[in-house]
Amino acid sequence: MSVHSSANVKRITTHILQEMKDRGEKISMLTAYDYSMAKIVDAAGIDIILVGDSASNVMAGHETTLPITLDQMIYHASSVVRAVSRSFVVVDIPFGSYQGNSSEALRSTIRIMKESGAHAVKVEGGSEIKESVARILSAGVPVMGHLGLTPQSIYKFGTYTVRAKEESEALKLLEDAKLLEELGCFAIVVEKIPADLAKQVAETVAIPVIGIGAGGGVDGQVLVMHDMLGITQEFKPRFLRQYADLEGIMMEAFGQYIKDVKNKDFPNEKESY
Ligand code: KIV
Repeated sequence: MSVHSSANVKRITTHILQEMKDRGEKISMLTAYDYSMAKIVDAAGIDIILVGDSASNVMAGHETTLPITLDQMIYHASSVVRAVSRSFVVVDIPFGSYQGNSSEALRSTIRIMKESGAHAVKVEGGSEIKESVARILSAGVPVMGHLGLTPQSIYKFGTYTVRAKEESEALKLLEDAKLLEELGCFAIVVEKIPADLAKQVAETVAIPVIGIGAGGGVDGQVLVMHDMLGITQEFKPRFLRQYADLEGIMMEAFGQYIKDVKNKDFPNEKESY
């Protein structure tokens, strides 16, 4: 099997993602929040683009994901969708737009799907949000679950450390994964949990399990684009592999531009009309 065997697929769908899990091909997923970055990552061949509510951190500079609004998520998602021709686009439903009220969950989802043109939504939690998940699925919208470290619950956890190290939390996570599968979710993200547990989840449920800080035993990996590109220098958890130093490259380019302007070197004659 080629590691790139889904490379010739014209458009990634939930069906293709399931086939990838079934034949053991790992699923690649990255976040994107704007047109220009989404165009590049789609052209690079990423399978899933997540319009994550991490936009609240990396785009808006908030400390947590809680402040971002549904309108803001729709703005980011519609910018991404306009750029994409192959990737499957999943959008986080933001905090406060789906928990505890399945009618509101459905309303939020319908707004995301209609106004952005995205392909699926992602929600955080298990049994606590089962009515919302079922209601969204009843409208024919694919749902991706998210278990483990769920950043919308950061004030409940109190810290960003590894989740489900204790047996009771690990058991609940496993039960939640089974429940999300039973309800009809097409995939689950597991964030910052022990690698053995993540592997067990991926082996227990038939749907794809995508990990972030969850080891290599899952069906795919996701990272926040700004972290893996080295734009967010202050965030360096152990699970993060940094594939570029864009901050360094940008600082050099900006510094050179400033120098050229100050030295009257830019623009030169060829750059003028
Ligand atoms: O919002 C986000 O970027 C996410 C990923 C960390 C999975 O949920």
